[in-house]
Amino acid sequence: MNLKAVLCVLAACFQSAISLKTGNGTETARDLPPLLLVSFDGFRADYLNKYSFPNLQKFYSDGVLIKQLTNVFTTKTFPNHYSLVTGLYAESHGMLASRMYDPRVKKIFTLQNDSDPFWWNEATPIWVSLQKWGYKSAGAMWPGTDLQIQNQTSSYFLKYDSKVSFKERLGNITKWLTEDDSVKFAALYWEEPDHTGHKYGPENTTEMARALKEVDDHVGLLMEQLNQTGLWERINVIITSDHGMVQCSQDRLIQLNKCVNPSSYVLVDLTPVTAILPLTEVSVLYKNLSNCNVHMKAYLKAAIPDRLHYRNNERIQPIILVADEGWTVVQQGNLKRLGDHGYDNSLPSMHPFLAAHGPAFRKDYWMNSINSVDLYPLMCHLLGIPELPNNGSFSAVHCVLVSEKCPDLGVIVGMVIGVLIVLSTITFLFRLMKNREPSTSRPFARLELQEDDDDDDPMLE
Ligand SMILES: *[C@@H]1O[C@H](CO)[C@@H](O)[C@H](O)[C@H]1NC(C)=O
Ligand SMILES: *[C@@H]1O[C@H](CO)[C@@H](O)[C@H](O)[C@H]1NC(C)=O
Ligand SMILES: *[C@@H]1O[C@H](CO)[C@@H](O)[C@H](O)[C@H]1NC(C)=O
Ligand SMILES: *[C@@H]1O[C@H](CO)[C@@H](O)[C@H](O)[C@H]1NC(C)=O
Ligand SMILES: *[C@@H]1O[C@H](CO)[C@@H](O)[C@H](O)[C@H]1NC(C)=O
Ligand SMILES: *[C@@H]1O[C@H](CO)[C@@H](O)[C@H](O)[C@H]1NC(C)=O
Ligand SMILES: *[C@@H]1O[C@H](CO)[C@@H](O)[C@H](O)[C@H]1NC(C)=O
Ligand SMILES: *[C@@H]1O[C@H](CO)[C@@H](O)[C@H](O)[C@H]1NC(C)=O
Ligand SMILES: [Zn+2]
Repeated sequence: MNLKAVLCVLAACFQSAISLKTGNGTETARDLPPLLLVSFDGFRADYLNKYSFPNLQKFYSDGVLIKQLTNVFTTKTFPNHYSLVTGLYAESHGMLASRMYDPRVKKIFTLQNDSDPFWWNEATPIWVSLQKWGYKSAGAMWPGTDLQIQNQTSSYFLKYDSKVSFKERLGNITKWLTEDDSVKFAALYWEEPDHTGHKYGPENTTEMARALKEVDDHVGLLMEQLNQTGLWERINVIITSDHGMVQCSQDRLIQLNKCVNPSSYVLVDLTPVTAILPLTEVSVLYKNLSNCNVHMKAYLKAAIPDRLHYRNNERIQPIILVADEGWTVVQQGNLKRLGDHGYDNSLPSMHPFLAAHGPAFRKDYWMNSINSVDLYPLMCHLLGIPELPNNGSFSAVHCVLVSEKCPDLGVIVGMVIGVLIVLSTITFLFRLMKNREPSTSRPFARLELQEDDDDDDPMLE
């Protein structure tokens, strides 16, 4: 257990200790600023440089901007939304892809049938932990908030419905936050710019500009609503996303059925990460798939690279195929989407960004990048609850907080220069003194000799 975790536990014990009268925590919840986490699905990091975002810019210039998040593999919606709220890699939280098969219970997960808690229960999202400490939380379509994870939904939630407008989702969130003081965490999800990115491709600047203007208008509405309800100055707000988007093309298709007989496998998930459950000899299938297309890598489960953190789970199939950036896997036939994501999480096109504003955050502060799993320990810190075991690091991200002592770059450069000046002065003085002394006496000559003797001693080898 690291120091941070110990401090968190102490802080939480302290909080429950001083609120014994009312049970565990609800009384002191009032002291902490609430935290609102917002996700605009599929907001690729470099959209920030390529399009204009007057409202978002206003938001982060009075707060924090992290230009890129290294997200988790697979760079899909559910795996990454779950990583944001658990701090775990996909292999550790069990939400591995948009389509999964669990051989232990023979269940199938799809985006249309995602509400069996079984798929979510390998981890505990931050809202469930928070509720166990006596606080409340609210969810507006954030994946999982409306499901019985570890036997509880978020205290307030909207049942997932893509037709509910951003304004209505936001309206519910601000209502819950203003009407109930013990709501300390709220999570708000919106489907754009992912939807437009898939449909037209991220290189369609006309369509993307339209979708991104709408997203920026939503950020404007959010600031306005929080301002009107008196929350703006006292709430911590994090705006982020799950993954980026890349252009696909009919010229970059990989046809699986040209390489393997369709009756030789069950297709669990298709593109850009293909999950194959073999029905014949694994090695034959693997050999055919390895040689299928130079723009696709085939891995036997045990050989999936460590850095993907995508191996240690029953829900990962015996053969995994990973298409190169912008390539699409099909069994046969044509391209269905002009934009896609899910590719290797080391690709910048797959990365989202993060912006934050509120009393806890520095103003006009930016960082180049963090890992998306680092957000979870940051949020636990903001909420004053202990972290559950996770793959993030508070120290990677703590500098965004006003309460943390982080010398800025200017100070560090100044210190380095100072140290160099002192060192060169000492060297100079030392040389000066040495030049004034006769250099004949050698007080350490004996020691040197003894060392030589020791080196010859075979006993020491
Ligand atoms: C959804 O998945 C569950 C298992 O998680 C299964 O029992 C159920 O039949 C599925 N429903 C549909 C409509 O496929
Ligand atoms: C807090 O209290 C609630 C009910 O009062 C209880 O269900 C919950 O387990 C408690 N949580 C902790 C962490 O003690
Ligand atoms: C959820 O509740 C059921 C009974 O209602 C119980 O059997 C099960 O152990 C609980 N699961 C968890 C994770 O608390
Ligand atoms: C909350 O959401 C519902 C739709 O689920 C909507 O009808 C209602 O107007 C929203 N409430 C507010 C205050 O916006
Ligand atoms: C963008 O999409 C629109 C609508 O499909 C289409 O008319 C237009 O030609 C596309 N532009 C580019 C640059 O692909
Ligand atoms: C909040 O409202 C006040 C008064 O209407 C206005 O001056 C201020 O600019 C608003 N702040 C934000 C962030 O919208
Ligand atoms: C592997 O490829 C060979 C040669 O194309 C083909 O004859 C064979 O049926 C393939 N095996 C499977 C399991 O698809
Ligand atoms: C991620 O965290 C979980 C929970 O602590 C742990 O079991 C797992 O080994 C970690 N993964 C890595 C790659 O460190
Ligand atoms: Zn997404």
